Amino acid sequence: MLLIENLWVEVEGQPVLKGINLRVKSGETHVLFGPNGAGKSSLFFAIMGFSRYRVVEGKIIFKERDITHLPPHERAKLGLGISFQRPPSLRGIKLYQLGKLMGKSEEEIKRYAEMLSLNGLLYRDVNLGFSGGEMKRSEIFQLLLQEPDLALIDEPESGVDVVNIGIIAEAIKKLLQKDMPILERKRSGIIITHTGFILEKVKADRGHLLMDGKIVCSGNPEEMFNEIKLKGYKECVKCWKKTL
Ligand SMILES: Nc1ncnc2c1ncn2[C@@H]1O[C@H](COP(=O)(O)OP(=O)(O)OP(=O)(O)O)[C@@H](O)[C@H]1O
Ligand SMILES: [Mg+2]
Repeated sequence: MLLIENLWVEVEGQPVLKGINLRVKSGETHVLFGPNGAGKSSLFFAIMGFSRYRVVEGKIIFKERDITHLPPHERAKLGLGISFQRPPSLRGIKLYQLGKLMGKSEEEIKRYAEMLSLNGLLYRDVNLGFSGGEMKRSEIFQLLLQEPDLALIDEPESGVDVVNIGIIAEAIKKLLQKDMPILERKRSGIIITHTGFILEKVKADRGHLLMDGKIVCSGNPEEMFNEIKLKGYKECVKCWKKTL
């Protein structure tokens, strides 16, 4: 699904990603861990192709196509989708209209809105004045409508109350076809999480720890998260390096 080879990215002239290698297969869910400022969101922005995140070396292959220099809307059309850590507001575009623009029927839009308890927000401008938790639900709602082959999900649970975390987790499971056997799944996902709450509900296949723009270790996501919680990021790196 996704192959990233030796990716170096600069933002505002400063290096943020320093030789990232990553492979995500069809049907897999990967998790990114790492301290604040490590470059996790920047990696998502580089995969989406936002122009501020300038690729200086390496390449991004998506579904066997080199997308390194494609604009974001072309990548979205090919099947890449993102749920932002801090989503932009779209003044003048209602959530419902966005669903229509994505070619969905009224029935489908309402079904997904129901699933994410967003009925009351369908006729408001996208994300404008939404509470933190409402914004996160609106982001996942937009991904459900878009149906991307690879969903990049940046901190879906941050600022979300305990009940709504459950709702978001169910929606992500649906989005990533978790009800099907892995070999039949067509969709993949990469999830960034600090709290790990989402891992309790959405089973992930592989975890990666990003520090200072580099993936310093990879492994079983739940074990990695427990290690990080107990010992911190630096100790986690040591431990996993031993097992490589
Ligand atoms: N548009 C930008 N302009 C200037 N600096 C940026 C920009 N985007 C990212 N950076 C810098 O790049 C580094 C990585 O940022 P990034 O948002 O990718 O971190 P992160 O791992 O997602 O952190 P967090 O866990 O806090 O969300 C930070 O030092 C950040 O200030
Ligand atoms: Mg971030």
